[in-house]
Amino acid sequence: MADKKYLTTSTGAPVANNQNSVTAGTQGPTLIQDVHLLEKLAHFNRERVPERVVHAKGAGAHGYFEVTNDLTKYTKADFLSEVGKKTDMFIRFSTVAGELGSADTVRDPRGFAVKFYTEEGNYDIVGNNTPIFFIRDAIKFPDFIHTQKRNPQTHLKDPNAVWDFWSLSPESLHQVTYLMGDRGLPATYRHMNGYGSHTFRWTNAEGESVWVKYHFKTDQGVKNLAQEVGNKLAGENPDYHTEDLFNAIDKGEFPSWTLHVQIMPEEDAKTYNINPFDVTKVWPHKDYPLIEVGRMVLNRNPQNYFAEVEQATFSPGNVVPGIGFSPDKMLQGRLFAYADAHRYRVGANHNALPINRSKNEANNYQRDGQMRFDSNGGGSVNYEPNSYGGPKQTPENAQAPLAVHGFADAVPYDDEDYYSQAGDLFRLMSEEERSRVISNIVGAMEPVEKEEIKLRQIEHFYKADPEYGTRIAEGLGLSVPAEVK
Ligand code: HEM
Repeated sequence: MADKKYLTTSTGAPVANNQNSVTAGTQGPTLIQDVHLLEKLAHFNRERVPERVVHAKGAGAHGYFEVTNDLTKYTKADFLSEVGKKTDMFIRFSTVAGELGSADTVRDPRGFAVKFYTEEGNYDIVGNNTPIFFIRDAIKFPDFIHTQKRNPQTHLKDPNAVWDFWSLSPESLHQVTYLMGDRGLPATYRHMNGYGSHTFRWTNAEGESVWVKYHFKTDQGVKNLAQEVGNKLAGENPDYHTEDLFNAIDKGEFPSWTLHVQIMPEEDAKTYNINPFDVTKVWPHKDYPLIEVGRMVLNRNPQNYFAEVEQATFSPGNVVPGIGFSPDKMLQGRLFAYADAHRYRVGANHNALPINRSKNEANNYQRDGQMRFDSNGGGSVNYEPNSYGGPKQTPENAQAPLAVHGFADAVPYDDEDYYSQAGDLFRLMSEEERSRVISNIVGAMEPVEKEEIKLRQIEHFYKADPEYGTRIAEGLGLSVPAEVK
């Protein structure tokens, strides 16, 4: 619109009256010929898209990533190709279980989703502020999330369901310990680390691959909130974290994170004592130390929340040459789930929206679909192969082949050690933090109705560390079952 001073309909016609609807006189009913009124009411009815089924409440910011260390011996990813290279990026932080309007300062993992607009397409790291997860097979994700959301009858949060599921899924113990510890309630989005959590694959120009894990360390330092403070803030300012991020960037206090990786040679994966693709486990830093990659700085707030944050679509499937997937069963499930959610939530052409569009031109033969608002390929040929110079595949950009073996079957993981790393995490805590973890867990488990569930969960805590289990049992007025000791 050339002249922004006058109001128009969405088809550009001037609006004569935006204060009064067209009626039959001062007392008469409204006339259907008031097309401006009809359009205004109808468009308003369609303002919402479905909220994300998880991670609905979030805040986003623009920034850049700058390479500080040469890791070209591990990956040929162009955006990591030279020290000093800068790439625009967008991040969205979120809570997991709450709805779009829910409080920020609740105990919950935080989403940490980064989109790098590289010259070879978008690369998304869709991680959390925890290096691990509750489950390790995608087939359990919908059940797990149902327990975190509202009860189908009461529409209330349901501690019974939460602890029933966790106690029957002991692989969750490590993440439960992490969540109930100090880092389960960050002070702000600026004061928490981010992790890719899964294992990914890097491949260099020679075609050699390594396994990799991502760690974004906050340069602001890790700070957390005491449970009571979080509770109070949830009532007084439910948007506390959203506000903090926006205001910090608005004031020019640009938050930053230093990205590190852990690198595991492919050969090690065959013999390492931890399954490197099990997202409930960390790789101890003494085995695979952190290596610096670069720095991420957030320096620009979105201009429009809906356009840039709500419509942003991140997917672990968005990778670039030099970066690939691992056989992690959770990651594999996510490769389907995200793009599918985006087609449903935002539409088949979501990648053409400004916030999701790649920096380089997307060149393919996908055409049409709802809300195709770009030139839709114009008059260019819409099939391949063709004799008209259309875009062609580039075999040199294939992911490195991965040798696989075994029977196609619904096979469980080959280890049942749910306890060592959870126990290690508990033992790493100071006495003060242990007390807070115990008190957070006891507080969370007290409302559980079935004693059977409490006892089953106490057994898991006890197996991680006898002190851990005993103190929780005492806090709940119960005893560790004799057969567990
Ligand atoms: C959001 C599925 C595990 C981090 C989502 C969404 C879905 C989903 C459907 C909503 C996407 C959208 O509407 O745009 C799953 C499934 C999982 C899984 C099926 C397991 C099989 C994980 C794990 C992490 C994670 C392990 C972290 C390591 C996130 C984040 C978002 C998200 C950060 C929000 C992205 C944004 O800000 O738009 N997940 N998820 N998810 N998930 Fe997962």
